[in-house]
Amino acid sequence: MRIQVAIIGSGPSGLLLGQLLAKAGIETIIIERASKRHVLARVRAGVLEQGTVDLLDQAGVGGRLHLEGMRHDGVLLAFDGHSHRIDLQSLTGKTVTVYGQTEVTHDLVDAREAAGLTTIYEVENVSIHNIDRGSSYITFEKEGIEHRIDADFIAGCDGYHGASRSSVPAKAIRTFERVYPFGWLGILADIPPLNSELIYARHERGFALCSMRSATRSRYYIQCRSDERIEDWSDARFYDELRRRLPQEHADRLTIGPSFEKSVAPLRSFVAEPMRFGRLFLVGDAAHIVPPTGAKGLNLAASDVHYLFEALRLHYAGADDAALDAYSERALQRVWRAVRFSWSMTMMMHRFPDEGEFAAKIQNAELDYLVSSKAASTAFAENYVGLPY
Ligand code: APR
Ligand code: PHB
Repeated sequence: MRIQVAIIGSGPSGLLLGQLLAKAGIETIIIERASKRHVLARVRAGVLEQGTVDLLDQAGVGGRLHLEGMRHDGVLLAFDGHSHRIDLQSLTGKTVTVYGQTEVTHDLVDAREAAGLTTIYEVENVSIHNIDRGSSYITFEKEGIEHRIDADFIAGCDGYHGASRSSVPAKAIRTFERVYPFGWLGILADIPPLNSELIYARHERGFALCSMRSATRSRYYIQCRSDERIEDWSDARFYDELRRRLPQEHADRLTIGPSFEKSVAPLRSFVAEPMRFGRLFLVGDAAHIVPPTGAKGLNLAASDVHYLFEALRLHYAGADDAALDAYSERALQRVWRAVRFSWSMTMMMHRFPDEGEFAAKIQNAELDYLVSSKAASTAFAENYVGLPY
């Protein structure tokens, strides 16, 4: 088989790129390691920058998002027993939309199927070949039978643990990483959120986040040990710990109810440079990982997709390949700005047990300055709503 763009990975990066390319008349195929059921069941973050919303609209999949997504004009930062609202809209003129990544994935999968586009699920042993020559191709197995796809270009949208980045010779790639000494324990429950906007809380016992998926579905997180065992956390213990980390006015409003999803996620910052290797382009989590503190994971995948889609569109329109050649540099500039913001917010809001009391006082002072300075609040808001593409 020969295709214009072969996409490895059916997560948000691969699906959104595939949808945009298809609308531009560019042939794609997606090969995916997991089952369709697994892809659709993944629970991930839920805050979309306006740029991401615009891109989903451009891809023709914004319908449900505009019906069910919740526009948020502000976000609360809580510390020292009080919460402070950052008015994103008045400070930046922009807002964010709360809409689960699970829903984004569903919308993209549905659109791809409705367009009759091919996704091959449950593939194995994916290998990438000849990325430095004109005849690049992918091999993979499906039900024990080996297949080959020849492609003009290969989009490595296969996440942190995928085959794309690992197919690049070690001498051709540099990686930068920070692993944080804690994780996030998160639950989903069909209970009304305790607040209409997100609350990020810094507390001496640890970080907490109150988010949501709808007016009837809450998403809560608490900082935990990286090796925390879910079985050690009953719902009652989780809610008790969450309450203890929130200002009393919010803790008193917490509705509790049975969780239907509970998971622990480790936190890391990771960037691979460059993001292009001949005919292979790394996109999204395949090239970078951010701690979820700044809600940048999906939004960075979206900006990568924007840059790569525009470059491929120009290529197939007969323009020069300057945009393809500039992809890595353009994407990485926005990636590093978001990596910095996510790192900064993580360092400011989490408990670092080995850092001592001085560090805790500095964190409080940083938050105190942020919420009392229009300049500092504006800088925070600009990053949170998403820096320009
Ligand atoms: N072959 C084929 N598919 C693969 C392979 C492989 N070797 N390895 C991984 N995959 C698939 C995964 O099963 C997954 O469906 O690639 C997809 C990668 O999706 P994500 O990890 O979601 O990465 P991305 O699409 O870049 O989206 C980034 O998703 O994980 C969140 O927090 C992250 O919000 C961010 C967003
Ligand atoms: C979520 O709703 O899952 C969420 C929201 C904001 C974050 C991280 C996760 O920063």
